[in-house]
Amino acid sequence: MSASAIPTIETEKVKESKLPAIDFNNIPFGRTFSDHMFICEYFDGKWQTAKIQPYQPLEMSPACNVFHYGQAIFEGMKAYYKADESGVVLFRPEKNWERLNKSAVRMSMPEIPKELFMNGLQQLIQLDRDFIPKSAGSSLYIRPFMIGTEPFIGVKTSDRYLFMIIIGPVGPYYGEAISVLVYDTYIRATKGGYGNAKAAGNYAGTLYPVELARKQGYKDVLWLDGEHKKYVNEVGTMNIFFVVDGVLITPETDGAILEGITRDSIIQIAKSLGIPVEERVIAIDEIVAAHDNGTLTEMFGTGTAAVVNPVNRFGYKGKDYLLDETKYTISARIKEQLVGIQKCTIEDTFGWVVEL
Ligand code: COI
Repeated sequence: MSASAIPTIETEKVKESKLPAIDFNNIPFGRTFSDHMFICEYFDGKWQTAKIQPYQPLEMSPACNVFHYGQAIFEGMKAYYKADESGVVLFRPEKNWERLNKSAVRMSMPEIPKELFMNGLQQLIQLDRDFIPKSAGSSLYIRPFMIGTEPFIGVKTSDRYLFMIIIGPVGPYYGEAISVLVYDTYIRATKGGYGNAKAAGNYAGTLYPVELARKQGYKDVLWLDGEHKKYVNEVGTMNIFFVVDGVLITPETDGAILEGITRDSIIQIAKSLGIPVEERVIAIDEIVAAHDNGTLTEMFGTGTAAVVNPVNRFGYKGKDYLLDETKYTISARIKEQLVGIQKCTIEDTFGWVVEL
């Protein structure tokens, strides 16, 4: 991104930074935010002047669309310090802009011009650059989001919106191998719905079943398809991958599954390493059979927040299936490449990394 392309965004700086209060050696995921936030209002059919201002609560009418009918979409991105600390990079930011606009179209919200998204992102991160952690495994998490703000208690597309970006230092999302419950009752999404949109409702609807799964000792849920409850979809927080007989397999994107940017990167990296990859329909019964005959050797999730996270146990129809994540070699190799590209220790032959 060249500095000359940046239009003016009104900026109001904090009087006192919260940086001294942050313990960079102990950063929980998603609880610490930087000094400033980016905010831009949409009304009268257009995006208004954008601002960067001190991070603060919003004042909104209780009648706003978002509280009643849930027009709310978001993205997850990260900025990284290069391993040699010579600069800061973003990973495939255009893909997040594209996906945010795809979500916007599906949820009947206005699209965000590329310049507004990229310049807001760049200027906010530049201003709060000191919040980017340097240690391995940590990064600056970036949360762009848009909500419907028209104060009207009737079901219709809002005519007012807020597009905002908040950022904060994060450590690992899970930080260890996780267990997942495979439901044959609750579902997350179905074809023709909006499972592939990064819409708040997709997450809200999973909270209760995930809580039930936690009470049964699982960390998260591996969702099956909504129609047959037979085919593997995703983990809500992550896309899912398996290694069966040395082949990396993942469900094909069918409109019900989030089109993960990390998912796409993993597939491209695997192919470049000569690992056979299949994107296709995967029955849970096939995974159970592969576990039982010993050909299922790895199971892992991928996402911006989770990066590449091993799954070492899944429960299905009252039975548990165990895997040994310490023996995962293919996902470890792919993760090493991904993180190496993001931290600029491995040459980025894909053109994914964008200098800030
Ligand atoms: C991300 O991976 O960035 C997401 O938005 C998923 C969310 C569960 C943290």
